[in-house]
Amino acid sequence: MDRLALLADPAVRSAFGGELGRDIEYHASIASTQDRARELPRAGGARSTIVVADQQTAGHGRGEKSWLSEPGASLLASWTFRPAPAEPALFALLAGVAVARALKTVGVADAGLKWPNDVWLTGGKIAGCLAHGASDHLVLGIGVNVSQRELPREIAATATSLRRAGHDVDRLALLARITGELDALADPASHADALAEWRKRSITLTREVEVSGAGEAPFRGTASGLGDDGALLVETPYGQRRVIAGEVRVLG
Ligand code: BTN
Repeated sequence: MDRLALLADPAVRSAFGGELGRDIEYHASIASTQDRARELPRAGGARSTIVVADQQTAGHGRGEKSWLSEPGASLLASWTFRPAPAEPALFALLAGVAVARALKTVGVADAGLKWPNDVWLTGGKIAGCLAHGASDHLVLGIGVNVSQRELPREIAATATSLRRAGHDVDRLALLARITGELDALADPASHADALAEWRKRSITLTREVEVSGAGEAPFRGTASGLGDDGALLVETPYGQRRVIAGEVRVLG
């Protein structure tokens, strides 16, 4: 049974938020939890907050992409961290590890990680992470495809959901587990282990890849490593490249 909508009740929200040490803002429908959370610190929000929604009407993915989700089927949430626990790019990559660890606690053990911030199961992408930094805080957004039976046509070829992969997961439980894992990763001392786990779960490393959108012409090479700052190392005929932004397509 999915219990996310229980958060509409202020008493439940307050008890759940108390357990997680956060303020919880719940929306039945909102344009984007990320946009809303990015407004919060400017609006003077003191405690760390989680903005969570049952539906987004204008969700953002990385770059210029949209994040598509049918009502009631995804975990859609944005967390504020003050101070910022890491550079946005590194924390978003580590957030993929947090999602994989949280999924393991609810019985989904085999999540793979695609550089930079995507969580995959056999069959496609099930989650993505997005971070925005400001001078004194960071906003991290995560979308997880949970109970979709079908994915929108635009992403059907590359995306899947926990349900399609055979898992029945309660979004409220997943929200709590991901929050716990993110909080653990807010400690810089945890980063070395998390990076090692990213490398182990990686579906990008050792593969032939094409890198595009990194501010230069697309290039191909072998993904050979992950730097401690989250950069992807790619071996090309012209030497090693450090990729810190862009899209990576796995070729084979
Ligand atoms: C990506 O893989 O491109 C990142 C996707 C991040 C989507 C989440 S859903 C919750 C939060 N609100 C948004 O508008 N985006 C993030």
